This record gives sequence, C-alpha cells and structure tokens, in this order.
Amino acid sequence: MARVEHTVVVEGTDISFSVKKGETVLKAAARNKIVFPSLCNVGECGSCRCSLKKGQIRLKRDVSHQISDEQMVKGDILACQSILQSSVELHVPTLSPANSDDPEEAKKIEARIASVVPLNTDIVDLTLALKGPLTYHAGQFSLLFVPSHPVLSTEPRSYSLARGTSTESADTVQFHVRKVPGGVFTEWLFGEDRTGESVILEGPFGSFAWSEQEGKNSKVLFIAGGSGYAPVQALLEARRDTASIDATVVYGARTQADIYCADSVQKIQEQWQGSLRFVPVLSQEPEGSDWTGLRGFVHDHLQDVVEDLPGHSAYMCGPPPMIDACLGVLGECIETNNIHYDKFLDRSHISAEEVG
Ligand SMILES: Cc1cc2nc3c(=O)[nH]c(=O)nc-3n(C[C@H](O)[C@H](O)[C@H](O)COP(=O)(O)OP(=O)(O)OC[C@H]3O[C@@H](n4cnc5c(N)ncnc54)[C@H](O)[C@@H]3O)c2cc1C
Ligand code: FES
Repeated sequence: MARVEHTVVVEGTDISFSVKKGETVLKAAARNKIVFPSLCNVGECGSCRCSLKKGQIRLKRDVSHQISDEQMVKGDILACQSILQSSVELHVPTLSPANSDDPEEAKKIEARIASVVPLNTDIVDLTLALKGPLTYHAGQFSLLFVPSHPVLSTEPRSYSLARGTSTESADTVQFHVRKVPGGVFTEWLFGEDRTGESVILEGPFGSFAWSEQEGKNSKVLFIAGGSGYAPVQALLEARRDTASIDATVVYGARTQADIYCADSVQKIQEQWQGSLRFVPVLSQEPEGSDWTGLRGFVHDHLQDVVEDLPGHSAYMCGPPPMIDACLGVLGECIETNNIHYDKFLDRSHISAEEVG
C-alpha cells in the first residue's frame, strides 16, 4: 500500500488532504471525498486546472495544449496530471474564495432551463437563464449539474458556450447539445420537456480561444463536427466586426439534413470583415441525392479545400476521432502552436482505468 507522502492545502479554505506516493492531486482529492472540478482525468478537458501557490509538482505529461508557457510560469497546473514533489498549497476555482483579479475564474451559478429548441434531428439549442452573471471568453465550456438527477447531481457533463462574448457578462447562455444514444445527460434532456428544470452551471473552463496572434490578414481554418459548431460560432461572433481575418469553416455532418449551422454562418458572413467560406462535408449522404458538395470525411479534403494550409492557424471542435484524424493531416504542415482544439469527450472515450 502506497504511503502518504505529502499534503495539499486549498488556499483560503480549511480543506486539506493527503496524497500518496505517485498519486495525482485529482485522484487524491477523490479518495479524500473532495469534489474537485474535473471530467476527463487524462489532461484533455482543462476542467481540473488550478494554480500552485506554494510547493512543487511534477507533470505526468505535456499539458501545453491546455496551459501556455506563460500561464505555467504563473503556476497554472492540471490536477489530474500533477504528482507532488512536496506538500503544496493550491488555489482551486470553485473551492478557494474567488480571485477578484480574474472575473473569468470558474464559479458555480444556479440556473433554470429557459428553452430546448431542436436545431436538427439530434442537436438542440439549450438556453439557460442564470441567477448570476457568467463572464467567459468565446471558446470556453461549462460543466452542467442537474441537482434532481441521481447521477448528474454529482457527475456533471461539459458543454461549450455557443455565443460569442469578449468581455461582457451574460445572464443567459446557450449550448448546442447532441443526443448520444445511451448517454445519461442527453437521454435525460431529450426524454421529455425539461423547461424550468434547475441546473447548476460551473465554469467557465478551457483554454480553447482566439490566439492573441490572430489579427488583420490572419488566415484561419475552423473545423467542426456535429455540435462542435457551438464554440466555433462563439469564436466567429466574438470577432465578426473587429478583425479582417480570412476564415474557412469546414463542417462535418452525416447528411444534408444535419447541416444546422448554415444560417448562422450566413448571418456572421454579413458582418465578417475578411472572407468567410463555409464548406460542408457529408459522410453518410445517400448516393444519388441532389447533394453536389463534398462527401466523405473532413480530414480527407483539407489539403484540397484550403490553399496554403501551412499559412493557416487551425481551430477544431467536435468528436475525438475527427479531431485525431485532422491532427494527423494538420500536424504535418501547421506548427503545433497554431493548432487549437477541444475534443468533445464522453464517458465512452474515458477509459475505466483512467477514471478509477
Ligand atoms: C470540453 C468539452 C466540451 C464539450 N462540449 C460539448 C458541446 O458543446 N455539445 C455537445 O453535444 N457535447 C459536448 N461535449 C460532450 C458532452 O460533455 C457529453 O459527453 C455528451 O453530451 C454525452 O453526455 P451523456 O451524459 O449524454 O453521455 P454519457 O453518459 O457520458 O455516455 C456517453 C456514451 O458513452 C457510453 N458509456 C457510458 N459509460 C461508459 C463506459 N464506462 N464505457 C464505455 N462506454 C460508456 C454511453 O452508453 C454513451 O453511448 C463536450 C465534452 C467536452 C470534454
Ligand atoms: S480532468 Fe484534468 S484535464 Fe480533464
């Protein structure tokens, strides 16, 4: 049995817990029944991000996809990837008192479901009315808890904020939620009219965001699959009238009926300062239909659709297999620093071993 080596103290609280040799901070928190914000346990979602105030840790893997060098110098870490080298003090969003210097720090906000509106056969627009304002930047996501649900009261699900905001706080928020057969949250949401239900939003989380280097004359490739258009819409809305950027949105869907975002792109195009192209790619459109656009998988078309791929930055959101396949193509020609993505991981992607 591994012995207790070190202690974590949560800044500004009376919470402290023991950490065994080789254990991550997140696993130790769970063993000690401390509810840390978290989802994937594998360094992919960014929800366990916290900051090291005292002491030393070692990271199990490269987390530069979630935390920039500059943020790391300031002490930001991922609890699920941190092994203690000494006892430490951590500032943990939602546990430590709010950091008044950071209006975007994650917090819990009570909310009600204001509406659930179908966008296509398996994606809905979920609008929440918040009881307090949320400040976030385009591209981030929130965790949603359902207090009345036996599982979702303690095991939240992550959803990307679908509307663009740069600085202002929002008191309603929108999400695009795709139904996952057998999924706990989505079966609950799609099962009956949930208008008026109480939920708790925790957030914002995530580092998927416009890179500071994007500005006039930048060339940007967006890749979205299914409800992965939600954070892409937020990014586009946040910059629609401020920068002259040449953007291409490649959207992966199964059939023509699944392309729910064409109107949204068109509205943004009306204000977009540079060029904005929309390229749907359909993977299951019946042969012989009237579809004249691209067929197959998104990653197979990137080289043909985008001239000067190496001159682009890429922003991708959606199903993990789509992102992995696109990374295989883009990784060959675009610098890693210029590739940004959020994988929409669910319980089937998170192995029982890692969750344990
Ligand atoms: C950062 C981030 C942002 C996201 N944003 C969005 C978004 O904007 N829109 C969106 O639609 N989704 C988004 N997701 C995905 C979302 O969080 C949920 O995972 C998804 O909606 C499914 O939730 P669920 O509760 O319905 O399914 P879950 O209960 O998580 O189940 C998902 C699937 O896994 C299967 N499963 C459950 N347990 C296991 C197991 N132990 N082994 C194997 N299979 C299992 C289930 O049968 C089901 O088919 C995001 C995910 C992340 C990480
Ligand atoms: S729980 Fe640590 S990054 Fe997802």
